[in-house]
Amino acid sequence: MQLKVLITVAAIVSSVFGAVTVPIQKGNSGLAGCRIDKIREKIGKFNAVTNSAPLLDIQDELYATNVTLSDGNLFRIDLDTGSSDTWIRGSNCYGDKSCSGSFAVYSDFNFTGLYYLVEYGSGAVAGAVFKAGVTLAGLTANFLIGLSEIEIDIGGSDGLLGLGFSSIGVISSFISPLKGIGGNWVDALNLNNPVFAFYLSNANDGDNGEVTFDGYDSSKFTGNITWIPLINYVTDYLGNPSPGYWIFDFSG
Ligand SMILES: *[C@@H]1O[C@H](CO)[C@@H](O)[C@H](O)[C@H]1NC(C)=O
Ligand SMILES: *[C@@H]1O[C@H](CO)[C@@H](O)[C@H](O)[C@H]1NC(C)=O
Ligand SMILES: *[C@@H]1O[C@H](CO)[C@@H](O)[C@H](O)[C@H]1NC(C)=O
Repeated sequence: MQLKVLITVAAIVSSVFGAVTVPIQKGNSGLAGCRIDKIREKIGKFNAVTNSAPLLDIQDELYATNVTLSDGNLFRIDLDTGSSDTWIRGSNCYGDKSCSGSFAVYSDFNFTGLYYLVEYGSGAVAGAVFKAGVTLAGLTANFLIGLSEIEIDIGGSDGLLGLGFSSIGVISSFISPLKGIGGNWVDALNLNNPVFAFYLSNANDGDNGEVTFDGYDSSKFTGNITWIPLINYVTDYLGNPSPGYWIFDFSG
């Protein structure tokens, strides 16, 4: 179980400074300094974005994007940095009014025999776990996703794609990544540059937001990137220390 303690790091930054791009990097210099330094060096040189998707500003409440599932259907999902699991509304969904809109048909996917329950800061979802392909921004990962059977107080989207570390996930920690399955969507992509970035904007201003993976969009900001250490650590399901939520010291 987890709480959506941290809603969106980037959103907090955005509300203070206006629209900025915050490249968010997985990892921490204290644990894997060498690797992180390499990634930093690489990112410093990397300024071409190949994988981006427009953000949909849903009533100034959440940022969503279109994803395609391996059944060929399109879903509008919430991008959430405060959780790590991906789920889509399933054809068996019941509960409150959350269970309306597009849904994925169970028989189109491979059932794993596993079930999940995820509680958020507001709302909860439960259902069955399937192996499926999820395509976003031109990138496809085959991994474990949930199809909801019960949704309580989930609104505005057909599902959710978690961009948090899999150490705080439910579905994403079911089967060890060491066995070739598990992890969140970004883990499953196995990118050269394990990076995602948001450009947040207010749709009312006629400016469209953007999410990028495997790099960032250097046309969306000026100046140099500043690196900030993450401060929230947990023990993951393999017993190793791992970042938990994307939390950093704002005064630093
Ligand atoms: C998302 O998909 C819907 C349905 O096809 C489409 O109307 C909308 O333009 C798409 N939005 C973006 C930003 O791609
Ligand atoms: C589902 O199972 C079938 C049969 O084993 C396999 O061909 C297919 O690739 C699987 N789909 C996914 C998304 O793993
Ligand atoms: C960005 O970093 C470079 C190299 O450290 C430095 O020369 C330059 O002044 C910095 N630019 C800004 C806007 O801080």
